[in-house]
Amino acid sequence: MQKLLIKGNRELTGTISISGSKNATLPILAASILAFKAKLKNVPFVKDIFTMLDLLKFIGIKIKINSKNKTIELINSNKNINTLAPYKLVRTMRAGILVLGPLLTKYRKAKVSLPGGCAIGTRPVDLHLFALKKLGAKIKIKDGYIIAEAKKGLIGTSIRFPSNSVGATENALIAAHGAKGKTILYNCAIEPEILDLISYLKKLGSKIKISGRKISIIGKNISFKKINHKIIFDRIEAGTYIIAGALIGKKIKINKVVPKILKYEINVLKKMGAKIISSKNSVTIIKSNNIKRATVSTKPYPGFPTDLQAQLMVLMTQAKGLSKIKENIFENRFMHVPELKRMGAKIEIKNKTAYIYGLTKLTGAEVMATDLRASVSLVLAGLIADKRTIINRIYHLDRGYEFLERKLKKCKASVKRT
Ligand code: EPZ
Repeated sequence: MQKLLIKGNRELTGTISISGSKNATLPILAASILAFKAKLKNVPFVKDIFTMLDLLKFIGIKIKINSKNKTIELINSNKNINTLAPYKLVRTMRAGILVLGPLLTKYRKAKVSLPGGCAIGTRPVDLHLFALKKLGAKIKIKDGYIIAEAKKGLIGTSIRFPSNSVGATENALIAAHGAKGKTILYNCAIEPEILDLISYLKKLGSKIKISGRKISIIGKNISFKKINHKIIFDRIEAGTYIIAGALIGKKIKINKVVPKILKYEINVLKKMGAKIISSKNSVTIIKSNNIKRATVSTKPYPGFPTDLQAQLMVLMTQAKGLSKIKENIFENRFMHVPELKRMGAKIEIKNKTAYIYGLTKLTGAEVMATDLRASVSLVLAGLIADKRTIINRIYHLDRGYEFLERKLKKCKASVKRT
């Protein structure tokens, strides 16, 4: 089991280039089942992407990977596609559920393993199934699998989501792309990763209009175009390094970002005292010596993202006074708190709110990663803690952060993988 060793208290200075978004790449890879030939650029070569590629290969999609120029080519000219997504490939990466919509809309049947839960919550898929049933799918659950079929194909309709779900919106969009006629989705999630999927589906021939949380789509059944698509930047990776800069950045320039997509996060950090200068496609951040406390609630985009909650909590340990962060999206996303407390943080949890008492000096310790974003919050804590921090189970990190050690070492951090 690999570990990360971090020696803290080294000021960071330098430039970090942000990779492509894992959470944009995953639905676009799933939607590529509906493409003939697709070439994706700026793909982050992280674990979850390879898991999704394994699933697509299992289904019968031809994949060509060029890690030098970070592109993936996908060809679906297979006459006998396997419309099964097995448990062994879906359980390690919940986003495997995203092949349900494309398989169903193109091949009129699919058998996809229920993804099961993960560290941060039960992760139900009822909203995905709700949308597909509205489009005409017959769905039953048997032996831990979703068995879906649409003998006459899916038919466009109006669907109002009872609550915002990124994955369910993505599955519905991809399914509607292959459905007959027009579909109107109401109360959609509108994360930037969904907008990137929409621009991909447009290249595949769909006519899509967005207004607020309403998305209307007139699908296009088959497309024999060869399409190229550049994945948007990873706003969560960018937010993570901006918070690292607020914690211990002498001066860090973060490249290949679109600052306006990070507006909300940047405003929260500026209010806490971080000095942030945005330019066209970069953000420069200098830590502040007196970080102010804050009260933040996680919300669907464009609110403060749940995927940055653990990282922000580390910054709050360095703010004078009582900070609060309410986790509204997932039911169990405070797994990093016991580990941060072992490093000296003073945090209490009541219901869905964490109360963080600052300013507390953190001290290095041996800690354990539990999920992707919790593990990176331990890295941030290690960067500012006295002495040495050892982080176990860093395979969680490898699921979503490309070249993390390399990017931090380039900014003078002392980070080593053993
Ligand atoms: C996506 O997960 C992201 N994953 C998550 O990032 C992110 O935290 C989440 O969106 C919220 O922004 C990918 O894009 C691969 P949801 P997803 O459906 O689609 C409930 C990371 O760290 N819900 O928007 O699964 C659900 O339990 C990962 O990169 C239902 O009740 O999130 C949650 O409470 C972690 N029924 C809320 O909705 C459903 O059918 C939001 O979930 C689906 C979801």
